[in-house]
Amino acid sequence: REVDIDPGDYEAGEHESFMHKELLEQPAAAERMLRGRLDERFGTGHLGGLNLDARELRAIRRVKILGCGSAYYVGQMGASLIEELARIPADAEAASEFRYRNPIVEPDTLYVAVSQSGETIDTLLAVQEVRRKGGRVIGLVNVVGSAIAREVDGGIYLHAGPEVAVASTKALTNMFLGFALLAVQLGRVRDLSIADGRRLIAGLTAIPGQIEEVLATEPDLADIAKRLAEAESLFFVGRVRGFPVAREGAQKFKEISYRHAEAYQTSELKHGPLALISTDVPTVAVVPDDELVERNVAALHEITARGGPLTVVTHRGVDLGDLAGRAHRVDVPKNERELDPILLTIPLQLLAYQAALNLGHDIDKPRNLAKSVTVE
Ligand code: G6P
Repeated sequence: REVDIDPGDYEAGEHESFMHKELLEQPAAAERMLRGRLDERFGTGHLGGLNLDARELRAIRRVKILGCGSAYYVGQMGASLIEELARIPADAEAASEFRYRNPIVEPDTLYVAVSQSGETIDTLLAVQEVRRKGGRVIGLVNVVGSAIAREVDGGIYLHAGPEVAVASTKALTNMFLGFALLAVQLGRVRDLSIADGRRLIAGLTAIPGQIEEVLATEPDLADIAKRLAEAESLFFVGRVRGFPVAREGAQKFKEISYRHAEAYQTSELKHGPLALISTDVPTVAVVPDDELVERNVAALHEITARGGPLTVVTHRGVDLGDLAGRAHRVDVPKNERELDPILLTIPLQLLAYQAALNLGHDIDKPRNLAKSVTVE
C-alpha cells in the first residue's frame, strides 16, 4: 500500500529545504508535545491515551520498543530512560528484524511501536505479530489516524506537525520526549521519588528553550560541517547514553551527505576501528557531562595521537583536558543527566544538514530513500 504524504498547505517558505524548516521548528514542536502532559505537583507525566491504569502500569515487567531507522535509534534512547527511571528491563529492536524471528511475546511486557508516519510496513507488521500473540502495544506516532495509530491498544501522539524531509528531526525529538514522559510515569508508580520526578519534569520544561539555544549555534557548526563533508568516511562515537546519539548522528550524516558514517561505542574503538583512524578519517564524539568523561577523553586521545580530526559534542563546563587544543568543540546546555541524549542530538542534525548543503545534495529527498517505507 502506498501512502502519499500530504503536507496540506505546509510549505518550506523562506527555507531552502523542509529539513531546515523542520529543524528550526523543534522548540515549538517540543512545546506542543509537552503541553498538558507535565504533572508538576506529583512529579510525573500525564499521558492520557495510554489506556493503562496505575495497576496495569505497575504490572509491566519488561518493555520492548520497536521501530525502524531513526525511530529505532530513538527507541534505544527510550529504553535507557525506562531502565534508569523506572528500573524496568527495556530494549529496542529494529521492527524489521523482530517480526521475522518468531518473537516470544509475554503478557507482562509492554510493547512500544515508534513511528513518525505510522505507516512503516515493518513496524506495522511487528505490531500485528505482537497483538496476534496477545501482547499489549502502545504507539508513539506522529500522524493521527495512521495505520499503526489505529492498530495499537493506546498511545502517545507526537504533535510534531507535518514532517516532509526524509531525515526526521522534530518528530524524533518528540519521540524522545514521549519516552521521557513514559519513563517518568512508569517510574512514579514504582520507586522514582517525587523529588526526582519533579526534577525531571522541570528538566523537560527547560528543553524547548535549550533546543533554541543549540539551534543558534548553527553558524559555528557550518564551518565544522564543511570540513567533515570533505571526508569519504567518518566515525560517530559515544557510549552508554551517548551511543544511540552517535548512531542517530551517523544515520543522519549518511542519509543526506552520502558519506560513509559509522557509529561505534567509544569504549570499543581499541577493539577494531582504531586501525582505520588516519588524518583522512574524522571522528565526531559525543561526550556527555557524566561519570565517564575521563574515560571518554582517554579513548579520544587515541584518535588525536593518530592524527584523526576530532569534533567533540559535549556539555558546557566539561573539562576536556589537553584534548581541548586538538579538537573542535561543540557545547550544548546542561539539563538533567537522564535527558542528555536529546540536546546532544541537535548539533548532529545540524552537522549533517550543513554537510549535505555544502555538497549540494537534495536534502529533503536523498537518493534511494523514501520518507516512509510502506511496501515490503
Ligand atoms: C525510513 C526513513 C527513515 C525513518 C524510517 C522510519 O526508512 O528513511 O528516516 O526513520 O523510515 O519511519 P517512521 O515513519 O516509521 O518513523
